[in-house]
Amino acid sequence: QTPMTIAVDGPSGSGKSSVSRAVARELGLGYLDTGAMYRALAWWCLDQGVDLSDEAAVAQAAADLPLTISTDPDAPHVRVGDVDVTDAIREDRITGQVSAVATNLDVRAELRRRQRLIIEEQRGTTGGVVAEGRDLTTVVAPDAELRVLLTASEEARLARRATERHGAADAVTLAATRDLVLRRDREDSTVSTFLEATDGVVTVDTSALTFEEVVAALLALARGEV
Ligand code: C5P
Repeated sequence: QTPMTIAVDGPSGSGKSSVSRAVARELGLGYLDTGAMYRALAWWCLDQGVDLSDEAAVAQAAADLPLTISTDPDAPHVRVGDVDVTDAIREDRITGQVSAVATNLDVRAELRRRQRLIIEEQRGTTGGVVAEGRDLTTVVAPDAELRVLLTASEEARLARRATERHGAADAVTLAATRDLVLRRDREDSTVSTFLEATDGVVTVDTSALTFEEVVAALLALARGEV
């Protein structure tokens, strides 16, 4: 079997993490959550007292980051040094500040370099990887066998995030989620154009699809059925 890389990009709330994990599991591939790497760096900077507005210091932290990220779709653990940060990097304080490290171009160069190494390693071991983030289809893995952009209406994305964060999407939780999601979109869009697909990238609009339908669509694409 020839190695396969599936690159998946999309904005927050497009469902890319859960979908990518399910596709990896189904195809027996590894799974790489590149957002977790940016989050881990933000966590480490805060832990070490690195000022996030000091670009040189943040770039140095990226170069030194003692990161281990598991590529098992059933147990995607993230460690910084000896600390398991899998849950800590999902906290609001990280989500609210991660764009500050992700917009640093030296940081991006360093993390992209690490991402490409992990992708290559996976191709040689598990036979490939589903790698997801914001710039996988365009910059990190433009040669991937399959490249997919997951989009969703703002309404659908907010509803998904509100449900993830609070267990329900009602007026109160939607309002509480709205600023966080929209501000991060705005900050992220200064470094990557993840809202529009480039040539050769398949766009899947997930707004009206169930989770299972999106997974099925990607599996069909991966298996060359469509
Ligand atoms: O996907 P997730 O929400 O965990 O990503 C966290 C942050 O990491 C994003 O808001 C973005 O700033 C950054 N990111 C990025 N490039 C990627 C993946 C994530 O800039 N490939």
